Amino acid sequence: MSFDIADLRSQFPILERTIGEKSLVYLDSAASNLKPYRVAERIRNHYLNEASNVHRGVHTLSDEATTAFERSREKVREFLNISSSDEVIFTKGTTDSINLIASSGEGFLFKSGDRILLTEMEHHSNIVPWQIAAERIGAKVIATKILESGDIDLNDFEAKLKEGVSLVSFTQVSNSLGTVNQVKELVELSHKYGAKTVIDGAQAVAHMDVNIKELNCDFYAFSGHKIFGPTGIGVLFGKKDLLEVLPPYQGGGAMIDSVTIDKTTYADLPHKFEAGTPHIAGVLGLCEAIEFVEDLGIENIKAHEDNLVNLAVSRLSEIERVKIIGHPNRRSSIVSFVIEGCHHQDVGSILNNCGVAVRTGHHCTQPLMNRFGITGTIRASFSVFNQESDIDQLTSSLQKSIDLLD
Ligand code: ALA
Repeated sequence: MSFDIADLRSQFPILERTIGEKSLVYLDSAASNLKPYRVAERIRNHYLNEASNVHRGVHTLSDEATTAFERSREKVREFLNISSSDEVIFTKGTTDSINLIASSGEGFLFKSGDRILLTEMEHHSNIVPWQIAAERIGAKVIATKILESGDIDLNDFEAKLKEGVSLVSFTQVSNSLGTVNQVKELVELSHKYGAKTVIDGAQAVAHMDVNIKELNCDFYAFSGHKIFGPTGIGVLFGKKDLLEVLPPYQGGGAMIDSVTIDKTTYADLPHKFEAGTPHIAGVLGLCEAIEFVEDLGIENIKAHEDNLVNLAVSRLSEIERVKIIGHPNRRSSIVSFVIEGCHHQDVGSILNNCGVAVRTGHHCTQPLMNRFGITGTIRASFSVFNQESDIDQLTSSLQKSIDLLD
């Protein structure tokens, strides 16, 4: 390991908490990652020492805030290897980013009678916005099948593309199963059949190297809070030529060029899509979070998490009555399972009493749960601050749950 785990953990004060008398084992980073001290400190410093609006004032504080804000955009650009910072739009999060494309894309990225292709493993935030837009314009939402392994059925994917699809939207990493999809190949295939591509990167950016130029997707969305940053901030990447033709998502200040009562002309990218005062503290916190990841090295993070999740899969497999859902070709830092004869919610409560925080339920992926014929799972998701003893506490607490619920 190329970092000191004790030193790293000391950067997350929340890990010192106890739940009842048990020390906290946080295995719910897929829902929201914990924040290192420096991210909280960056936000605090902004509000206490430099709070001011951006892109509006000539005074020093506003000038400083604008510089820090635009430096953060540049940081996102560099982190994801995006060609131009004009292609980096700040949003409220992945959900907001997808809603933006689904809404602005109506009539541009898909028209009446067109088909929008998703997969059965999508989070509701990558299903419902498309359904709303499709219903409004008269398009149709369809989904690629998922194999028993938890991987995308590539034959079905291509067959559906062949029948005509104008837009494909899928996740890079399944939030429920941990499946890592082959984004580059799927994008290439979609482009071959003339479809535009949207990638939900919410579960990817904190766990693996993401290189947008290499992936060549048309749009990419992620959330700040999943990558050690604040809630309420996220990013939408879009290729410039596409963003230029899409109409604004929302109207208001900062997104205009000129306004008369009769007509408004819009600001250039990226501001055309950023109406109103943005979440400035959130953007600065996100920048700090990305720098935290860069300081650790994304490859080091990935190696550490791969070790943990592989160990967890093997230790869970040894427990009688535990059934892991999905054995994908490539797995990120997530493992989902059910316990025969025990309701996931009951297990989640007992785990909580043992200090172990996991997510239970359908994980906002009801179509995926239907596909596997279950109502929910117990999901353990790992982050860079987790350690092997967390897996010991998970497995011993699971055994306790099974004994209690028997
Ligand atoms: N999308 C988040 C999760 O999977 C909330 O838990």
